[in-house]
Amino acid sequence: MYLIDALKKFQRKNRNILFTTPGHCQGENLPTILREILGKKIFKIDLSEVIGLDNIRCPENILLKSQEAAAKIYAAKKSFYLYNGSSSGIIALMLTLLKKNDKVLISRNAHISVINGLILTGAMPVWVQNNWIDSWNIVENVNPEDIRKKLDENPDIKAVFLTNPTYEGVICDIEPISRICNARKIPLVVDEAHGALWNFHEKLPKPAILQNAMPLFSHCIKPVILLLKARFCICQKIL
Ligand SMILES: Cc1ncc(COP(=O)(O)O)c(C=O)c1O
Repeated sequence: MYLIDALKKFQRKNRNILFTTPGHCQGENLPTILREILGKKIFKIDLSEVIGLDNIRCPENILLKSQEAAAKIYAAKKSFYLYNGSSSGIIALMLTLLKKNDKVLISRNAHISVINGLILTGAMPVWVQNNWIDSWNIVENVNPEDIRKKLDENPDIKAVFLTNPTYEGVICDIEPISRICNARKIPLVVDEAHGALWNFHEKLPKPAILQNAMPLFSHCIKPVILLLKARFCICQKIL
């Protein structure tokens, strides 16, 4: 609520048109078609780093408090808001963990940003295949034994990147996978882009961060904050 409150306060106090980005000037400069579809109101709070709204590159005030609150809610040590979506978080994690020619275990259902991360890092993928669920005609998530087998076959793997849940909502059993990776001291990164609400109800699947001993992973808000394309990256440990 820190950000929402600050936006409301800013709106109440500042009645002048700002000549900063974004160029629509709080909705005054909108193309007619956008105004017709979306209305003007939402653009009143589409603001950049104006005074009172903190700066995401070096948050000191409301964004810092908001990130700290997010870390608490998600039981993380740290939380960082991302711009450029979950893709930027995934690529940042890959650049942190991998260098050229490092082997990385990746599930076949990975998002395209993981492929971009491979190109940017020069790391070599070892794929773990997702099976098919015939009765539903959708892809299965990975299973712990397949992960163990791949890690046994490739003891030089430097990190494991999984996507949980799949696009269709099929989850995998993170706890045993986490144990397998931990025993080998290999960081397990879980792209939970579609699991952002899991922390909020006991009947939902358990988020990776609550499944113990996970050295580091990304957890990204997708369904929650769509318009701003803002996402989270939360970390249990920083490498
Ligand atoms: C599983 C998964 N990971 C990552 C992403 C990347 O998200 P963004 O578009 O915010 O970069 C998506 C987007 O659809 C996704 O579905």
